[in-house]
Amino acid sequence: MKSFFRLFQLSALAATFASSLLPAATPGDFTLGKKEFLLNGEPFLVRAGELHYPRIPREYWDHRIKMCKAMGMNTICIYVFWNFHEMREGEFNFEGQRDVAAFVRLIQENGMHAIVRPGPYCCAEWDMGAFPWWLLKKEDIGVRTSKDHYYMDRTKKWLAAVGTELAPLQIQNGGPILMVQVENEFGAFGNDGVYMTQVRDAVRAAGFDKVQLFRCDWASNFHNYEVDDVAVTINFGAGSNVDDMFRKFTELHPEAPRMCSEYWTGWFDHWGRRHETRGVETFIGSLKDMLDRRISFSLYMAHGGTTFGPWGGANAPAYSAMVSSYDYNAPINEAGQPTDKFDAVRDLLKNYLNPGETLAPVPASHPVISIPSFELTESAPLFENLPDPIASENVRAMEFFDLGFGRILYRTTLPADVDQGTRLIIKEARDWALVYLDGERIGKLDRRHGDTTLSLPAAKAGTRLDILVEAMGRVNFGAAIIDRKGITESVTLAHSSGETELKGWSVYPIDFDFPLHQNLNYRPGKSDAAAFYRGSFEITEPGDTFLDLRQWGKGMVWVNGHNLGRYWSLGPQQTMYVPGPWLKKGRNEVIVLDLEATASPTLAGLDKPILDDLRPDASLLNRKPGQQLKLDAETPHSSGDLAPGAGWQTVTFDTPATGRYLCFTSTSPQRGDDPYSSMAEFYLLGEDGQQLPREAWDLVYADSEEITAGNHTADKIFDLQESTYWHTAWSTEERAPFPHSIVIDLGKSTKVTGFKVLPRTDKQTNGMIKGYRFYLKESAFDY
Ligand code: GLA
Repeated sequence: MKSFFRLFQLSALAATFASSLLPAATPGDFTLGKKEFLLNGEPFLVRAGELHYPRIPREYWDHRIKMCKAMGMNTICIYVFWNFHEMREGEFNFEGQRDVAAFVRLIQENGMHAIVRPGPYCCAEWDMGAFPWWLLKKEDIGVRTSKDHYYMDRTKKWLAAVGTELAPLQIQNGGPILMVQVENEFGAFGNDGVYMTQVRDAVRAAGFDKVQLFRCDWASNFHNYEVDDVAVTINFGAGSNVDDMFRKFTELHPEAPRMCSEYWTGWFDHWGRRHETRGVETFIGSLKDMLDRRISFSLYMAHGGTTFGPWGGANAPAYSAMVSSYDYNAPINEAGQPTDKFDAVRDLLKNYLNPGETLAPVPASHPVISIPSFELTESAPLFENLPDPIASENVRAMEFFDLGFGRILYRTTLPADVDQGTRLIIKEARDWALVYLDGERIGKLDRRHGDTTLSLPAAKAGTRLDILVEAMGRVNFGAAIIDRKGITESVTLAHSSGETELKGWSVYPIDFDFPLHQNLNYRPGKSDAAAFYRGSFEITEPGDTFLDLRQWGKGMVWVNGHNLGRYWSLGPQQTMYVPGPWLKKGRNEVIVLDLEATASPTLAGLDKPILDDLRPDASLLNRKPGQQLKLDAETPHSSGDLAPGAGWQTVTFDTPATGRYLCFTSTSPQRGDDPYSSMAEFYLLGEDGQQLPREAWDLVYADSEEITAGNHTADKIFDLQESTYWHTAWSTEERAPFPHSIVIDLGKSTKVTGFKVLPRTDKQTNGMIKGYRFYLKESAFDY
């Protein structure tokens, strides 16, 4: 671990010197005026661009800030990810790539302002939403609640550490920081104003005693809780109807300045799901609407960069991890180059500059190189290069073996002979597991598919059983955020005479940067099992490049000791961004850990990324070919018309319904000629009239989904994201006639008193549902 930090530190030394020579600026203030923010008493429109310094190599920090400035931004908005700075409890690191104060000073040096969002929770498609994994060592940990004292105590310590770094840089002290955010989108999680008030107080106590505080939420939930003396801002995505988004806000805060604190310029990608984009016109349209209304904004992301190392997060339900690229389809792409969105923002902003203001010139992009194909000539099989084991009677999650990230191997022997077809039940393998008997691979479990069981071949007592589990990202959003890795509960054999829980394990914790700090036994040639591969390539001049991983299965890549992140053949990301400053003239070393056996251990550097090459292992559609739901013999529990227009609406039943399988059918559109159905979110209401949890929901069927032009599968109605939506197939050939049905397995029999629907939240009205039928039954539907 140490050498990993040192590399970061060395390479970043130059930037440190440059930014510490800053002249002290004059103190100022930033306050809330009547419908306007006031900078030193004058109306000020915040035009912010969000950057995440951990997602940008330090050598490029200055370039990315200058790019934002050239795009017309006057402010940089940042998260400060707790887990990135406190990887082990009590050991804070603000050096090198983690020197957030240097980043903020660089913002000021570029004549820009800063907005700081230190969490403790951030979301951001970042492991556990920026919570440190070691919180999970406490069995009953609660996060985002004042009721867990350990959590609150660690939160205060974290915020105090941020305060030491950044409080001197508040605008009132002459620094660039205009505002500091309290928590993040708390309204989408809970309504505990006491917790939010305590976090606010901890931010103040951390030294942010003068600066304006704010919080961000969604249009639909910012009023779910109260916290005084904290400005309210709203987040929404490209193409939103800005007036709708601020309607409730203006009602409740008629005199307050309006700000979209995260205007989503694009969207993030998951392994095995379609690449996300948001069109230029759609994006520019709502941005112009905000400028016309003098609504402040922050572009999330202005430049997304890369989630290097093990830091990518995941969403749930259904569990789905993020890819390493955080390109985000943002105006400034992953390699820091301007895109058509960048040009469009610049063009638009020309008409909205303050008197005397001009746009800064666009800095040149960094050179990009290609690297001819080269072979990784040596390999070190993982099973021959294991760390020392820990003995453990039971399987447990990796956090309890003091492991935060990476892979973990659980090894035991079969206590008795097993017959062919005996089931091995692993609860739960998080997130992807390979199973071996006496070294031979017999199967794979993938949490994305809900896999828990394998059928064993006949095997003798004493056969060695190995379960190698790879941790993908921890869930970073919603109620599923307590997401321990490895095997969380038990491993059982289910045979004709009953179940036997397997005990007596040797557990091998394989830390995420394992090959950097172990002397692995490499030998020439390739391996036919999970292995580390080592090779090198020569270059005459360093430059950015995109390593082509299309020949490889699943794992991680290191270049000259820098961890580039995870790759997976599923895509849609098939290349990995290598920043030029991490390369050197002459020989460069590459290590790849591949858990599948690669056919050909070669790599090449491409001059363009491949972020949109999906090779899914299962259909993306939630319907088998030819499968047709039969509803003729079913009676709906409720049917009727939804109201036209945007925003949440609730339907309450005359009598409750009970059952496990839900079918929601759209029978007609709001707009007469509209052939589609679409929906952003859907909740069931319980006996108390409150929303029921959706973590156990499983989408079993949808008769039509758009998966070509966009990622609009039906599970989007319970993915907790109001800006993503289910949409039936677009093209004339694939379009399905009404009705359009979705079937969900709720996981257990449930008493339901009504439902809540959110139509799509962008400006479009296509697919808005009018007529509906609601079915709920104990047994599965017929097809
Ligand atoms: C929310 C969060 C961000 C990020 C975006 C999606 O708005 O606040 O951290 O997760 O969603 O990219």
